Amino acid sequence: MTGVRIAGVGHYAPERIVDNHDLEQWLDTSDEWITTRTGMKRRHWTSENEATSDLALAAAKNALANAGLEAADVDAFIVCTVYPDFLFPATACIVASKLGAVDKPAFDMEIACCGFIYGLTVAASLIRSGVYRRVMLIGAETLSKLMEREDRGTAILFGDGAGAVVLEASAQDSFLASELGSDGARPELLRVEAGGSRAPMTHELLDRKADRIHMEGREVFKFAVTKMIAATDKALEKAHLTKADVDVLIPHQANKRIIDAAMKYLDIPPERCVVNIQEYGNTSAASIPIALSEAVASGRIKTGDVIVFVGFGGGLSWGAVVWKWVA
Ligand code: ACO
Repeated sequence: MTGVRIAGVGHYAPERIVDNHDLEQWLDTSDEWITTRTGMKRRHWTSENEATSDLALAAAKNALANAGLEAADVDAFIVCTVYPDFLFPATACIVASKLGAVDKPAFDMEIACCGFIYGLTVAASLIRSGVYRRVMLIGAETLSKLMEREDRGTAILFGDGAGAVVLEASAQDSFLASELGSDGARPELLRVEAGGSRAPMTHELLDRKADRIHMEGREVFKFAVTKMIAATDKALEKAHLTKADVDVLIPHQANKRIIDAAMKYLDIPPERCVVNIQEYGNTSAASIPIALSEAVASGRIKTGDVIVFVGFGGGLSWGAVVWKWVA
């Protein structure tokens, strides 16, 4: 079995920035409430004519440039998203085609905010098992278009963006362990009800905004803290490492209070945790690769560092990957 490494990272966020004071213009909310309850200050929102594939494409180009590679060097393309351009075809097919990667396999993965964690496990496994030599993994979201902008419970939380990594076969192996889980017993806690085969779109569903994100915030909050802790513990155990071995932890950026609570229990000092929620809000499957891309660009990640990627989201789902940074 071969090893796998990340050869390049990149991200992209739409130009339009919406800060907490902008939200105050049409929502019964305040900068003070949003900041203290979530840690968010700003988020990027797409313009009307930008779709998920446009963000994914920009991030993918940046990752290829960072890796010093061309699209033709990549064997397969995966896009993790909850809001693809279309129900089908897959957004990954559109991105691969626009990159000029002709006839290459491309597919989407949907596991909400856990997309990147699941995707990293799948992509790394495709390489470690020898199926492909290089895989482009992208997390891309345009949740500002999927949320109800008049609902203060969700409209303050979500932002748009994309992050991408190019994974490649390597003599040294970065992949140390993965711990994934799901519990689909209560989809109503976090879902978009209408538009799938369970509830094809009707005027009635549209009138009651069933095509928008619905979330039971408090329930999700409790689940998030518990599962982030458990997944991190389990993944480290599988890697035969302890919390003291973690150099950098990159969590899904859903709420600063969720991150702080999990870090406190895990006893991982704040300076080892990457947080950029104040700039992007919750970008779902894009949040971890965007944070990784920024951490790499700022020199925060060094060769030999043990990184834990950990996330949770709709499903409900959760997961953590332990990854050694190989130059
Ligand atoms: N501005 C002002 N007040 C508000 C706002 C707002 N934007 N939103 C809610 N409130 C009010 C509520 O109405 C409530 O008022 P009340 O006490 O008079 O009833 C009060 O603030 C407290 O509301 P809570 O919902 O208890 O607030 P909480 O502290 O739980 O924060 C939040 C809400 C930020 C949504 C939090 O629950 C949370 O982050 N949950 C997890 C969300 C998450 O992680 N989602 C990730 C998955 S996304 C995916 O998978 C696609």
